[in-house]
Amino acid sequence: MKALVYGGPGQKTWTDVPDPGIRNPADAIVKVDTTTICGTDLHILKGDVPAVAEGRILGHEGVGTITEVGSSVTSLKPGDRVIISCIKSCGHCANCKVGLYSHCMGSEGAPGIGWVFDHLIDGTQAEYVRVPYAENSLHLLPAGVSDEQAVMLSDILPTGFEIGVQYGRVKPGDTVAVVGAGPVGLAAIATAGLYGAATIIAVDLDSNRLEKSREFGATHVVRSDEANWKDQVLALTDGQGVDVAIEAVGIPATFTMCTDIVRPGGNVANVGVHGKSVELHVESLWIQNINISMGLVNANTTPMLLKLVAQNKLPAEKFATHRFRFEQFMEAYDTFARAAETNALKVVITA
Ligand SMILES: NC(=O)c1ccc[n+]([C@@H]2O[C@H](COP(=O)([O-])OP(=O)(O)OC[C@H]3O[C@@H](n4cnc5c(N)ncnc54)[C@H](O)[C@@H]3O)[C@@H](O)[C@H]2O)c1
Ligand SMILES: [Zn+2]
Ligand SMILES: [Zn+2]
Repeated sequence: MKALVYGGPGQKTWTDVPDPGIRNPADAIVKVDTTTICGTDLHILKGDVPAVAEGRILGHEGVGTITEVGSSVTSLKPGDRVIISCIKSCGHCANCKVGLYSHCMGSEGAPGIGWVFDHLIDGTQAEYVRVPYAENSLHLLPAGVSDEQAVMLSDILPTGFEIGVQYGRVKPGDTVAVVGAGPVGLAAIATAGLYGAATIIAVDLDSNRLEKSREFGATHVVRSDEANWKDQVLALTDGQGVDVAIEAVGIPATFTMCTDIVRPGGNVANVGVHGKSVELHVESLWIQNINISMGLVNANTTPMLLKLVAQNKLPAEKFATHRFRFEQFMEAYDTFARAAETNALKVVITA
């Protein structure tokens, strides 16, 4: 089969590799119909994730059709259309039992690490992928949900919702600021309304993304390169700050922006993946009763979010801005990597 193979920092090729086969009774083989690229794939290509070995197939998002199942798989069969979760879940370890799939203790990849595709085992940017723990790591697609909608449920929608909205404890009437209006920030914006956020403020440097954020539910937008950006945010609250500030960039400055705009007693939910250490000003924050949360997505809410997408209550299709075929993978990466010029959100790649 063909697959997108990581060849060390800066290197990737769409090339021939052996077809995957069933290795364990709980596996399934999925023919990938649609996949997409995550910012994390760009991090891997920069060499920021040293655990990724040369020769690894990239990608942790996908929608496909099952071609083969292992002997213990009873609830899925060849021909089923499925969403591939970006997080593995064995379904019976202590962490899986409480929905903490991000720390699944199953031995696939490594025990305790839920993110295995394109990290520790071969990923989804390929014609076929082996999915471990298939019955818990795949979600059957109902008729009426398109591949383009469904592929947003592998990673970005659960990430924005779980680590942004749920960990941020958004509640009815809240004012929520989302710093970073990339796909993940937009996913938080799109799902903040599920818990009744009244005011949703998108904060970004990119006017195109800010404009887009209104389509996902932002009620106000603020450019963070304007000198008075903070006053603009505070003016949209009672002057005390937002109830919830969601960080969806992954740099020290935007984390600090969140602690600067949150009200006393409010929540800062960090979603961004940070490559550098971040200063936490406990000396000034302690007296403000701030809660700070962070984490790796569990993707335990994917079935619930899928129901909302199926009922047209979440505009998953709006994330797709560019479309490519598998043989155009290099072009797809280039378009996604230059998002500021190409206005790309999610690039969708189909077989
Ligand atoms: N916690 C998790 O499980 C998880 C899962 C997936 C992705 N992530 C992380 O979430 C983050 C966002 O992902 P994405 O794909 O949306 O990334 P992205 O790079 O597409 O979007 C980031 C956005 O932040 C904006 N930005 C940059 N600097 C800014 C600043 N100073 N002020 C305001 N906005 C600024 C950019 O213009 C861009 O729109 C990344 O760090 C990613 O690695 C986390
Ligand atoms: Zn991802
Ligand atoms: Zn588990």
